[in-house]
Amino acid sequence: MFKTHYRLERHSIALAIAIIVVASIGGIVEIAPLFTIDETVEEAPDMRVYTPLELAGRDIYMREGCYACHSQMIRTLQDEVERYGPFSLAVESQYDYPMLWGSKRTGPDLARVGGKYSDHWHVVHLNDPREVVSESVMPAYPWLLQNRLKTEKLDLHLRTLQKLGTPYTDEMIANAVADAQGQAAPNSDQASGVAERYGEDTNIRDFDGNPDRVTEMDALVAYLQILGRLTDAAYVAQAEPQPQPVEE
Ligand code: HEC
Repeated sequence: MFKTHYRLERHSIALAIAIIVVASIGGIVEIAPLFTIDETVEEAPDMRVYTPLELAGRDIYMREGCYACHSQMIRTLQDEVERYGPFSLAVESQYDYPMLWGSKRTGPDLARVGGKYSDHWHVVHLNDPREVVSESVMPAYPWLLQNRLKTEKLDLHLRTLQKLGTPYTDEMIANAVADAQGQAAPNSDQASGVAERYGEDTNIRDFDGNPDRVTEMDALVAYLQILGRLTDAAYVAQAEPQPQPVEE
């Protein structure tokens, strides 16, 4: 075995060919499954896109590095399914740019955390995790309640995603800023447009408990509350009823 290798090493062309053959095996293993991707990825016709407010929350989630401790991908292992719910489907990440599957779990997986807790629980928890989970090692994010949410450029954000293939309509883009404000202010004039464009099931609430301002907390909680709830494809595929969201 080693003798062959020594001989091969002395012939540069043979060695180069051998390297190409060995390296391409790895390539084929990774690339070949992509040819059947259209048949293997499920469909979710009921899936809606993120609202501008949820998208802004997702950006805060990335900015604060939540993905360093939380995955958003439930594997097909039985203990995971028992703890978190139906395993994640590829289609559930179809509008995620970039995907936030993560690879490390210091805290629990969040792929199906939407509706598990009330908005108020999230606000208290993000403001100071120790107030609700005394032994928690999660950092506190008190500035989320203080920072006004910057919504001015959300239309450009939606436009970019539209270019990448997310089905945002031009109307959604034109109303992005108003919809972000409206989703967090149920009594405002802008609120009705959100339900019109994103569906009656969209959460339109004052998420952070302060009706006068739209804060980064509003956006992040709006985002957390729809994780795992944009489509019920996983529940249908795995024949499980979707749990009812927790109310205040
Ligand atoms: C240093 C690691 C760490 C970071 C960073 C972190 N978390 Fe956590 N998170 C945890 C741990 C540990 C828990 C479990 C204890 C608890 O509930 O506080 C947790 C719990 C949670 C829960 C409750 C999950 C459940 O099913 O009970 C949510 C929601 C959550 N984190 C959201 C966030 C968000 C949003 C961010 C970013 C703003 C974040 N976390 C950043 C470690 C982290």
